[in-house]
Order: sequence, then C-alpha cells, then structure tokens
Amino acid sequence: MSSQVVVGTQWGDEGKGKIVDVLAENADMVVRFQGGDNAGHTVIVDGKKHVLHLLPSGVLHEEGACIIGPGVVCNPFVLLEEMEKLKEGGMSTDHIIVSDRTHILMPYHCYQDQLEESAAVNKIGTTKKGIGPCYADKYARHGIRYHELKDFEHFKERVHENLKLKNKLFTEVYNAEPMDEEKIIADFEQIRSRILPMIKETTSVINKAIDEGKNVLFEGAQACMLDINYGTYPYVTSSSPTSAGVTEGAGVAPSKIQTVVGVVKAYSTRVGEGPFVTELENEKGEWIRDHGFEFGATTGRPRRCGWLDLVVVKHAHMLNGLTDIVLTKIDVLTGLDELNVCIGYEIDGQILDIVPSDQEEVARAKPVYKVFPGWKEDITKIERKEDLPKECIDYIDFIEEYVGVPVSMISVGPDRVNNIYVKEIK
Ligand code: GDP
Ligand code: IMO
Ligand code: MG
Repeated sequence: MSSQVVVGTQWGDEGKGKIVDVLAENADMVVRFQGGDNAGHTVIVDGKKHVLHLLPSGVLHEEGACIIGPGVVCNPFVLLEEMEKLKEGGMSTDHIIVSDRTHILMPYHCYQDQLEESAAVNKIGTTKKGIGPCYADKYARHGIRYHELKDFEHFKERVHENLKLKNKLFTEVYNAEPMDEEKIIADFEQIRSRILPMIKETTSVINKAIDEGKNVLFEGAQACMLDINYGTYPYVTSSSPTSAGVTEGAGVAPSKIQTVVGVVKAYSTRVGEGPFVTELENEKGEWIRDHGFEFGATTGRPRRCGWLDLVVVKHAHMLNGLTDIVLTKIDVLTGLDELNVCIGYEIDGQILDIVPSDQEEVARAKPVYKVFPGWKEDITKIERKEDLPKECIDYIDFIEEYVGVPVSMISVGPDRVNNIYVKEIK
C-alpha cells in the first residue's frame, strides 16, 4: 500500500475507528482530512477502550506520524484534553501534527451551534460541537487558521473582529448572553505554548511520503450519507467525508489515491434527525440497539437502528469508488430468525435503486426487502470465512454481489483482534 482511505458508507459509527487502528499497523502516517470532534471512534486494544474524537484512530500506534489535516475543524481544547488522556495511559503524543492551514474551532462556534439548534424549527440534531459554524466561517473567509496563533497580537485582533460580529448575532438575533473576549484570549494564552510546537506545514509532507512509497492512511470521519453534497441534506454534517474529501482536505491529488476502503456495518444506524428508510421503530430496532450497544460515543444519544440498506451502500460506492469493503458488527445479528436487506425504494408506485436528492421523497420511500434466514452460532472467535455459518456467508456474499465490491475483511467483535481476513487490502 502507499495511500489508503477509510470511509464510512452509511450514517457514521460503522466501526471506522477500529478498522483504521487495524490498518494503521502498517502505516507510516495517518491523516484525518475532514470533520472535527463531532466524530466518536471507539478502539479496543487488549480489552482497554479508547474513545477518540479529533485524533486519528491510528494514534495508538506510536511509530508513525499522526496528522490533523487542513480540511479538519480542530478545537484545540478538545485536542489537548484527548492528548492528556493518552499520556495518562502512558502513551506518547509526540507524533501528533496539526496542519498550519487547519481552521481553529473557536468557543464561539460551539455556542453558535447550540443557539442555532435550540432556535431551529427543523432541527438537524447536531452534536453541538460547533462544526457547522466553523465551516461556515471558513467558507465565508473569516475563519482563523492555526498558523495565525504564532503571532499572538495578530491572533487577538482576529478574535476581536470575529467576536464583535458573533456577539451581535448572539445578543440581537438569539437574545442570548454575549461571550467574554478576555476569557477567550486568556484561555488561548494558557494553551498556546503546548499547541505551537505541533503546528506544521503538512501538505508537502504528506505528498512527499506518498511519492517515496511510504504507507499513508487517510481516516474519514462521519460517512457518505452525512456528506454536505450527497447526503440527506440538510440532515448532514458540513464536510465531505468521501474519498474526494481527501483531495481537498489533505491536499492530495485524486490520482495519488490507491485504495478506498468502505466500512459497512451489517445493519444501519443513524444519530440525529433526518429520513431513514429501513428504520425499525419497534422491538427489533431495540434488540439491535441493545446487542450492538448503539449509543453515541460523542453525545451518548441512543442511535436509531434499522436493517442494512444496500441502496445507501451502492450510493457510497458510486461516490467513493470503493476498492474494498470491510463489513463490521455482523456478530451483532447472531440470534435473529430472519434478516432483511433493502435493495430498492418504492416511491409513489415506482421502484428506485438510487438515493433521491429530495428528502421528502426519501421520507415517503418504502423499503423493498430481500429476506435472509438468520444464524444462531456465536461467530466472534471465528478466523476464517469458510467457518462461518452458511446463512452468514450467504448474507456477506449477497452484499459483495449487490454492491460489486469485494468484502475483504469481516469484523466479528470490537477488539483489534476480532477479524476475519478474506483478501489482502493493498
Ligand atoms: P466509528 O465512528 O465508525 O469509528 O464507529 P464507533 O466507534 O462510533 O462505533 C462502533 C462501535 O462498535 C464501537 O463501540 C466499536 O467498539 C464497536 N465495534 C466495532 N466493530 C465491531 C464489531 O465487529 N463487532 C462488535 N460487536 N462491535 C464492534
Ligand atoms: P463518526 O465519525 C454519526 C451527525 C449528527 C447530526 C449531523 C450533523 O463517529 O462516524 P454535526 O455536529 O456534524 O453538525 O451534526 O451529523 N454526526 C454523526 N453521526 N457519527 C458521526 O461521526 C457523526 N458526526 C456527525 O448526529 O445528525
Ligand atoms: Mg462514531
């Protein structure tokens, strides 16, 4: 391998963190290219649980460089908190680099996110981590980037000019309290010396590594259906979590991306608002939530659960150009008598196999299911695909056939070691 991308193919929480941790074993560099601390990636190593929000999940391998790329919106307070947790566990954080082009997610972005969500008639159900407001400022061209922290007088001026406008918004539009500029500056003064040594130019570093044949792994957060352009807009996040996001978010040309690994959870989940065609708002959905421990790692919210939607996964393949699928959490389905897999949407009497752009249409869609028999045997210790129950193999083979991408790895438990390797991911 020299450049691999790992992306989510559904609504997030597919188990990307675990898979990145596994693939990072062979990586010289792991790079986050979009999103922020709205992500929650759980990685279990030797029974110990690590929850990462901003740091790439490859951070647990201390040898390679760990880069927060220009396309990320990075809250420095969360970053330091996460690094502290790792240090308390005896791990090194010396390999963490923040791109000088990365935007600083400011305290006023979090506040704005909270106020906007509370006031909205049609709530998105954001994580309230300030992601949308920070990206909005970036594209409106008044965001503050990490290199601007180097000259603190300049940084203070930038905060002053931004906060003047934000406070008008907070007080005059939302009738809320203004934010205290002095406190914000004092908080940054406290952390600045710890942040400065991590700030580096990263685009040339990443490209040089690829050109030298080093192994570079790009870690996507969120997922295709939360993509700002191709997800269930407006119920999406504010970045591009697809393989295309690597191009702009890490500064790497499309021709340099070799492998695109789509992580597919064996059923569907969604956190927050928005249409969800295969949702099970019944005891079956609760059964999946209980067996899969489907509660958000970032907000603790129960995840909405439903059957696997292959219309969605095919949409993800079209947009990402998947070369491999890693199927996760198939162990969670053990014990069900029957499994449904969605292979089409019935909308106003017509059957579609693509995701419509209009969310009202998606909301009206009825799932067309193919039904599979379930299996009862525990599969969490199995190491070879051929040792899985026949019903389980049929389910996996159907996914492969329908999407047209090989299932190269099957994850059968949350630990780093619970995997079935089917085909080498190059
Ligand atoms: P991410 O956001 O895509 O990284 O996924 P999360 O970490 O938010 O959610 C996935 C959850 O499932 C985590 O709690 C993982 O520890 C767990 N997990 C990952 N893979 C498997 C698997 O194959 N089987 C089971 N039972 N749990 C898994
Ligand atoms: P990982 O990386 C699941 C969802 C939120 C909300 C919408 C917008 O763990 O898979 P935002 O705070 O980004 O403005 O919220 O996106 N969302 C996620 N859902 N997994 C995630 O990340 C998510 N990150 C954001 O719940 O519906
Ligand atoms: Mg998650």
